[in-house]
Amino acid sequence: MNLRPSELAVAFTERFGDKPAGIWSAPGRVNLIGEHTDYNDGFVLPFAINHSTLVAARPRSDRTVRVCSTFAPDDVVLADLDALVPGSVEGWAAYPLGVLWAMERAGYFSPGLDLLIDSSVPVGAGLSSSAALECAVAVAANDLSAASLSRTELVTIGQVAENEMVGAPTGIMDQSASLLGEEGHAVFLDCRSRESRLVPLDLKGVGLELLVMDTRVSHSHSTGGYAARRRSCELGAELLGVPALRDLSVRDLAEAAGLLDEETFRRVRHIVTENARVQDAVDVLSGKGPVALGQLLNTSHASMRDDFEISCAELDTAVDTAVSAGALGARMTGGGFGGAAIALVRSGDSAAVADAVTRAFADAGFTAPMIFPVLPASGAGRVA
Ligand code: GLA
Repeated sequence: MNLRPSELAVAFTERFGDKPAGIWSAPGRVNLIGEHTDYNDGFVLPFAINHSTLVAARPRSDRTVRVCSTFAPDDVVLADLDALVPGSVEGWAAYPLGVLWAMERAGYFSPGLDLLIDSSVPVGAGLSSSAALECAVAVAANDLSAASLSRTELVTIGQVAENEMVGAPTGIMDQSASLLGEEGHAVFLDCRSRESRLVPLDLKGVGLELLVMDTRVSHSHSTGGYAARRRSCELGAELLGVPALRDLSVRDLAEAAGLLDEETFRRVRHIVTENARVQDAVDVLSGKGPVALGQLLNTSHASMRDDFEISCAELDTAVDTAVSAGALGARMTGGGFGGAAIALVRSGDSAAVADAVTRAFADAGFTAPMIFPVLPASGAGRVA
């Protein structure tokens, strides 16, 4: 609903009869480049966005958790912390409860909690509404339990919640962006060493905007395609005798082509070339600047469409139309099979690009897209 912290505090008091102990916030993310590279020990370059999830929380004296939200107001989920196991919670509550379960499993006792959640991150749009929810609860529980976990440890807590409680075999990119992001910067992350570096991404300063084009085609990463791509990557690494696809370079591809079936080879080629593109993007940002990113975005999209096969007609229409209408570059972002694409545009061109994409969707008979600009924002933390 996009409530302000003070409004969420009032709603919490109405719901639970007492004031919250505090309000915590965690942003969604856009991945600038580096898709499906995270679980291959590779590189990613996401940034936290100015759309976030807020959690009002208060510790309880027992081991009960009560979770409510503004997006499913009739759902009051009650859970006993001692009885939480994977499979015991369904739907959106698996994310917040999964975080508490993961913290306990890692040896950090969480008190019972009352939680009220509000979010301005569109769900199913590929902007990591799930990581925003996990990270908001993770920073709240971390503060209220005095567990003193580091940001990197909280990333793992969020990932474990999603992998085991929700059942989506995802990597660490989304939680890393949500927890490590800073205003005006992207997060360059090495998913093997977990070292990260902030890379300045001042779009406004150079007259650019980044448009999110939400296709409204909803996706889920706990089923189907995402897991299948992960298995192909693991198979490719095994057949090529490397610990992870991160260990291959573009030069190794010619030999790999002779050792793999055609489809596995294309999956591998996407990961290997995408890792190179992330590193090129970091070089471009620290050299020529964001205007020069366009071609890398376009090549990344083609690789996801043709080699990794995770795009769809709506994403391709958004990307192709944006580029024809003057965007410097565009690509789908996130896990794929729906969700959003991004377009890098000169500020003066953004209305024309948005109009062209909206018209192309109408002509194709697709549901109208939601198109809006995003800015690199700061990561999760306490806001009240
Ligand atoms: C989803 C996952 C991430 C990452 C992306 C693809 O967002 O949660 O871990 O794998 O897909 O880059």
